[in-house]
Parts: sequence; structure tokens; C-alpha cells
Amino acid sequence: MKIAVLKETRLNENRVAVSPQVAGTWVKQGFDVSIESAAGSNSWFSDNQYSEAGAKVQTRADALKDANVVMKINPPTHDEIAELPNGCALISLMYHRSNAELIQALNAKNISAISLDAIPRISRAQSMDVLSSQANLAGYMAVIRGAGHLDKIFPLLMTAAGTVTPAKVLIFGVGVAGLQAIATAKRLGAVVEATDVRPETKEQVESLGGKFIEVKGAEVGSEGGYAKEATEEYRAKQREAVNKSLAQADLVITTALVPGRKAPILVDEEQVGMMKPGSVLIDMAAEQGGNCVYTKPYEVVNQNGVRIVGAANLASELPINASELFAKNLVELMKLIAPKSELVLDRTDEIVAGCLICHGGEITQSV
Ligand code: NAI
Repeated sequence: MKIAVLKETRLNENRVAVSPQVAGTWVKQGFDVSIESAAGSNSWFSDNQYSEAGAKVQTRADALKDANVVMKINPPTHDEIAELPNGCALISLMYHRSNAELIQALNAKNISAISLDAIPRISRAQSMDVLSSQANLAGYMAVIRGAGHLDKIFPLLMTAAGTVTPAKVLIFGVGVAGLQAIATAKRLGAVVEATDVRPETKEQVESLGGKFIEVKGAEVGSEGGYAKEATEEYRAKQREAVNKSLAQADLVITTALVPGRKAPILVDEEQVGMMKPGSVLIDMAAEQGGNCVYTKPYEVVNQNGVRIVGAANLASELPINASELFAKNLVELMKLIAPKSELVLDRTDEIVAGCLICHGGEITQSV
């Protein structure tokens, strides 16, 4: 069975779906692995490393020729779909609910589309979950980016010239990225506060040494582990609960997402007006519309001295780790869908049923 790994074409994308180590694992298992030349170069994986692992390094056209499974990170472009062999399986992120046209194009070519973002969030699937592995790194990177923009240090510093008080960090959304951001900011010595619509995150924040800001008197709750959309009442109560901390924060990191919807606005014009000049807001929801009204993806907006950073695709800024973890997630997925080095898409399996978006000319998920 032939696996083809493509070089990413998205602007500013440094990651690659498969590392040399993982390519070698599959070669040993009997897969025929072809890598597009220079696919790993931005992750510092050379063509030689892939060849030494037993993979073939080829042009895109040669790698794709007769491929049974094609792997990449970002959703395919229409040009890429045109290049795919008819009837192959494609494994990548697809965000099918907001990409109906793309799924139709894949289905028209009889592709089995396996969308990594649609893998169900169940414990058996944790090791395959690229959203988590990448969000984890992105949460770390958000703090490092923030530290780079801030014109002050994070930790408490006692010197002969006097004491420097620790930086104050406020985090909105305590999912995978938010938790890693709390841990990273704490390690750097900041005082950290965080809030989330899911009350169960209180204990997680506290276990990392952060202070949880509770929004009292309004419920939102969650469904399948994900947040539901917050009500206007909740939003008003949330503002009341966080505004004091927001006015004192040096660094604000927003990570809040609601599946299938535009990111909720959590920091509006008036709230940015309350923030200190010199403070920084890193908006990790930038690509989903942003949690701050002023956010522009990939840009830094200076609003009266508050720098609002539209942090898109932060995991790509740590491509070595991000590619390695992504590839390891794929190893685990392949154990499930190709246990004997042949692709077997068993739709009675909850994970396969969740992430197989179209197959055999049929769209199997609502798009
Ligand atoms: P996400 O990226 O969808 O959202 C980030 C955070 O924003 C969430 O914690 C969410 O509750 C919060 N949020 C949404 N709207 C908000 C608002 N208006 N105000 C404040 N916060 C708001 O979340 P992520 O990181 O993907 O994780 C979501 C859940 O999935 C968690 O419960 C996590 O434990 C679970 N999970 C389960 C996995 C598994 O079992 N395989 C793997 C990864 C995560």
C-alpha cells in the first residue's frame, strides 16, 4: 500500500504531516512511503533523512502516482484535489462543516476523506487527536509570543535597586491551549488568572497554580466536552467578573472557541479601553473571527497602546515538535485504519464513523 506525503502549500506553514522517524516506522511495517521533495525542509527534516529511513523522495506528481493514502496537514486546495488519484484516501484537517464545497469536490473524485479535526473526543482517540497535540504547542507559543511583545519581565525580581512585581496574565478559555498557556506563564513566574464557561475547568486551573474567575449566576454548560454558545446574560456576567482583572493584566490570552461557530467576542471596544497601555492581547481565535473586536489574523493592531496580536497557526511556529507530534498522531490513526498494512475503513467503529466524511461516492457526514 502506497502512502504519499505532500509538502504544505499554505502560506507561512512550516509543518509537515510525517516525520522521517514515522516514515521509517511505516516502511518497516511494509508500507511504500513517498515524500514530496522538500516537504520537511521548514521543519528541519531533510530529504536525506527521509531517504535514510527508507522512504522515496519524489516530485509531487510521482509521489501521488498510484498512491492509496495521501497525507497532509491543511485542508486540500481545489488544485490539490485535482491532483489526487481517483478513489484514494486523503487524511488531513478538513473542517468539513465550514467547507462543504471542498467535500463535494473530494466526493466527486470518489475520495475517502478522513478529516482529522472530526476525530471524536473520546479517550480511545486521544493519541490520534491532532487538535490537542497542536493546541498544546500553540498554547505554549502564545505565552512566548506575548513575552516577546511585552516590554517587561514575567517573574518577581528582588534586586538591590528594588523589587519588580510579577506580570499579570489573564486567560480566556481553558481548553487544551489555555491549560498549556497557564502552565507556561506560571513557569515563567507570572501571576495567572483564567476563566471558562465550563465550570469543571476551575479545578484544572487551580491545579496549575492559577486563580479561576468564576462567572456566577449564569449557566452555559457543555456538550460532548465542548462549550455551548454563551447567552447574552452569561456574557454580561462574565464582563462583570473579569473586568477588574482585565484592567490590571499585562498579558491577555484568548482561546475561546465554540465548535462550528464563529469565535465568541469576549473583549469588546469598551474592555480594550480599560486595558493598560503597554499591555498585550494574544488572540488565538484569530482565524475563527477572533475573541477581541479589533483582532486581525496575522497582524498586530495597536489600539491606544494595547497591542492586539491576531495569532494564527501558532503551532506552525514550532514546526519541529508540531510535525513530530502530528506524525505520531497519524501513526496511532493508521494502527486503527490500516492494522495489517492495508486500509480497512470499518464504519461501525466510532472513530472511523466520526472522521470519515465521504467514502465510496457518498457523503457520510452533514456538511
Ligand atoms: P476549544 O478549542 O473548542 O475551546 C477552548 C476553550 O474555550 C474551551 O475550554 C471552551 O470551554 C472555552 N470557551 C468557549 N466559549 C467561551 C466563552 N464564551 N467564555 C469563556 N470560555 C469559552 O476546546 P479544546 O481545547 O479543543 O477542548 C475542549 C474539550 O475537549 C475539553 O473538555 C477537553 O478536555 C476535551 N478534550 C478531549 C479529548 C479526548 O478525550 N480525546 C482530547 C482533547 C480535548
